[in-house]
Amino acid sequence: MAVTEPGSPSHEGEEEFRFHKGEIRPSTAGDAIEFIDVHKSFGRNHVLRGLNMSLPENQISMIIGPSGTGKSVCIKHIVGLLYPDEGDVLVHGQSIPSLRDADLFEIRKKFGVLFQDGALFGSMNLYDNVAFPLRQHTEKGEEEIAEIVNRRLSEVGLSAANEKMPNELSGGMRKRAGFARALVLEPDIVLFDEPDSGLDPVRTALLCELIKEVHAENGGCYVVITHDIMSARRVAEHISVLWKGRIVESGPAEELFASENPFVRQFLSGESAGPLGME
Ligand SMILES: Nc1ncnc2c1ncn2[C@@H]1O[C@H](COP(=O)(O)OP(=O)(O)OP(=O)(O)O)[C@@H](O)[C@H]1O
Ligand SMILES: [Mg+2]
Repeated sequence: MAVTEPGSPSHEGEEEFRFHKGEIRPSTAGDAIEFIDVHKSFGRNHVLRGLNMSLPENQISMIIGPSGTGKSVCIKHIVGLLYPDEGDVLVHGQSIPSLRDADLFEIRKKFGVLFQDGALFGSMNLYDNVAFPLRQHTEKGEEEIAEIVNRRLSEVGLSAANEKMPNELSGGMRKRAGFARALVLEPDIVLFDEPDSGLDPVRTALLCELIKEVHAENGGCYVVITHDIMSARRVAEHISVLWKGRIVESGPAEELFASENPFVRQFLSGESAGPLGME
């Protein structure tokens, strides 16, 4: 269903979406997550405006787009922290907004989420931070928990730091710790909200490598939100370009990097000339 903003003539609406070709190139992998005609407003701020987006199974997908377009809002819809005003969000075919609380609690075990700052608990050391989801969500004993936590910490290169408190860690270490914690429940879906923000280029490159390695080992649907085109070039297998609450174009990364779409080109090359202004 097409919804135009109150007071805006429909031809203006169409003009606004002239770069949105609605082109969803088929992914080969099948979809883990689907947004179907999702609308979401906060007061008068119409953020998602008929969003159709598919994120493939078993690949590393990136959602990229200008600041304030609703990327973080998308993640919150996937994990059921926000509900659409209209439309549906499916995870493995299951409608997230129509789940009852108990089912939502269950399905959240499928997700590992890495929030922007790593979101570690300040009063717990690194080990306890990573162990937390296992103690919260499973009946595992401490011995088994230790085995899992130590394996995850060594995977992200933090074995030696397990007794450190979060405030003793660098930003890059906190991100890696958050990544380790996001993985302990062996989630089918891992969501990263700007894992690379605030990192220097070398740390960003290393984190990208780590994401690729861990994905190669564990599989699953990884969704990475980023502003960093270098990160997208390094790790993305699938890219969705989000602007004005809809997808401009999405598909396999190499096709997006070769896109003729002026907005996609401007955004993926980081040029100042193009449809996107400071507005
Ligand atoms: N809980 C909320 N209540 C009211 N407005 C919100 C809420 N969450 C998000 N918004 C608004 O929705 C819009 C999109 O926000 P969102 O955080 O998803 O942007 P983003 O694409 O992640 O941007 P950035 O790249 O800067 O992180 C913004 O205008 C924001 O102010
Ligand atoms: Mg955000």
